[in-house]
Order: sequence, then C-alpha cells, then structure tokens
Amino acid sequence: MSRMTIGVLGCGSMSSAIVRGLHKESKAYEYFTFTPSHTRAEKLAGAVGGTAVRDVRDLKNKDFYLIACQPQQFDELATMLHGVLTEESVAISVLGGLTIGHLLQKLSPCRYVARAMPNTPCMVGEGVTALSFSKELRDRDKMVVSDIFSAVSRVFVFDDEDQIDIITGVSGCGPAYIFEFARLMIDKLREMGIDERYVESMVKQTFYGSSKLMTDTPASPEKLRNEVTTEGGITARAMIAFEEMNLKRAIETAVDLAYARAKELA
Ligand SMILES: NC(=O)c1ccc[n+]([C@@H]2O[C@H](COP(=O)([O-])OP(=O)(O)OC[C@H]3O[C@@H](n4cnc5c(N)ncnc54)[C@H](OP(=O)(O)O)[C@@H]3O)[C@@H](O)[C@H]2O)c1
Repeated sequence: MSRMTIGVLGCGSMSSAIVRGLHKESKAYEYFTFTPSHTRAEKLAGAVGGTAVRDVRDLKNKDFYLIACQPQQFDELATMLHGVLTEESVAISVLGGLTIGHLLQKLSPCRYVARAMPNTPCMVGEGVTALSFSKELRDRDKMVVSDIFSAVSRVFVFDDEDQIDIITGVSGCGPAYIFEFARLMIDKLREMGIDERYVESMVKQTFYGSSKLMTDTPASPEKLRNEVTTEGGITARAMIAFEEMNLKRAIETAVDLAYARAKELA
C-alpha cells in the first residue's frame, strides 16, 4: 500500500513533536519537510526517514500539508504556496489564533482545512489537541487528521470554531501555567533552605504523581483535593491563603486574557 504524503511547513518544536510521534506510531506516512533556513527541515527529515526540500514548489501533490510556522510568518508562507496547493489539498494548521476563514482565504484554491490547537506535552506523547474542520472537509480526511494528532495527544473535536480560541487559553497555554506554578514552588523551597539537590525533582514528582492520580482515577479534582484537605489541618491552612489571595480570580483573568489575545491574533 502506498504511503500518504505529508508536506511539513515549519519544523519547530511543535511540528517536530507531532511528526516524530506519528512516525513512531505509524509507518503509513511519508514526510517532506521545508523551512527557510533548511537546517531544521533536514534534521526532522533525517529523524523520520523523510525528504527535506529546498524549494516549496517541490511540495506539489502531497496529500496533507502541516502548517507550523509562527502566525506572523503565515502570510509570507501562504504567498509561497500559490501554485503548490490545489483544490484537492488538505491543509492542517497548528497556528494559534488563525481562523479557518482566514486560512481558506489565504490558501485558496485549497478548500479543505483543519485547524488544530495542540500543546507541548505532545513532545512526550501526552498532549491535548483541539480540532475544528472546514465545512467541506471529507469524513475520511477528518479521520486521518484525528489519527495524526492521536499519535501524540488526546483529540477533542469542536464544531464551533470559537471554542478553539477559548480552549487555547486552557489546554494550549495550560502547560505554561503549570510550569509557572512549579517554578514558584521551587523558588519557595529554595528560599526556605531545602537541599538544592532535592528541590526540583521533589516538585516535579509532586506534579507528575498528582497528574497521574488525577487521570488514573475517576475521582474529580475537587474530590481529590478534599481527600488531601482535613478541616483545621495543614493543607486547609494553605487553601485559606489561596482563597484570601483570590486564586480563582487570577486563573479566570488569565484565561479571559488569553482568549482575548487569541481573538486579537485572529
Ligand atoms: N509551542 C506551543 O505550545 C504551541 C501550541 C499550539 C500551537 N502552537 C503553534 O505552533 C506553531 C509553531 O510553533 P513552534 O514553537 O514549533 O515554532 P518555532 O519553533 O518558532 O518554529 C517555527 C518554524 O517555522 C519555520 N518558518 C518560518 N518562516 C517560514 C515560512 N515562511 N515558511 C515555512 N516555514 C517557516 C521556521 O523555520 P527556520 O527553522 O528556518 O527558522 C521554524 O522551523 C506556532 O504557530 C504556534 O502558534 C504552538
């Protein structure tokens, strides 16, 4: 059976995670990579037995195109793709904020577009990807797109594209919130004199173990929190601080601002 071909446009951390993860899971795809500086295209192609091309025009007639440059580099790339994409091409964008309407307009005559919002845990095969499809995209292509992201993440499909912008501020940016929380805990332990050899690994393991507990058991985060929090106990005292400092408000504001920024970029 012939393999499906994917043109990879932009080979940064996100597309590399997806392509490497997919290659590990399935040998059904053949990769053709492109970046302006060529270096990262060669590196990624080398890792997955693919081909790095120096000219975008060498990417004609591929089954799928994974678009993974920065959003502000997209207009330049779209111009380069004139004459490469046809009415039958399927373009998959991971670009934050760029709407399906905008993609269809810039990538014309391409009619088939998938908008994806993956996150960096895709690098370890544990990502979350939100997907939305252009109206005309055929069911068989929707399935392939879902399969591509399933190799590195759990996939959630949204009919209402606006929900991708909302979810971006949680699953897309969420890893950064968690890393920031961990960083602050590390700093605090250091400040309180805990042995430097232990600080980072203790905090990382606390996050890892808690995440595993949360995903491996059916209990809600609220129930799990209650199990750690005895009335009048040590955790309860810490929780009072969260409440007094209005952690809820801080998180709500962060998500609202991320959503507003996604809209701005769109
Ligand atoms: N990181 C995240 O958490 C995350 C989550 C979801 C979505 N995203 C989206 O994923 C996209 C890529 O992010 P990243 O972190 O992987 O970016 P990155 O590391 O900056 O990589 C961008 C890649 O795009 C290439 N590029 C630049 N201009 C190009 C052009 N005109 N045509 C083709 N390729 C071009 C660059 O080429 P050179 O190698 O030559 O510089 C580089 O390989 C962004 O749009 C971002 O919104 C990121």
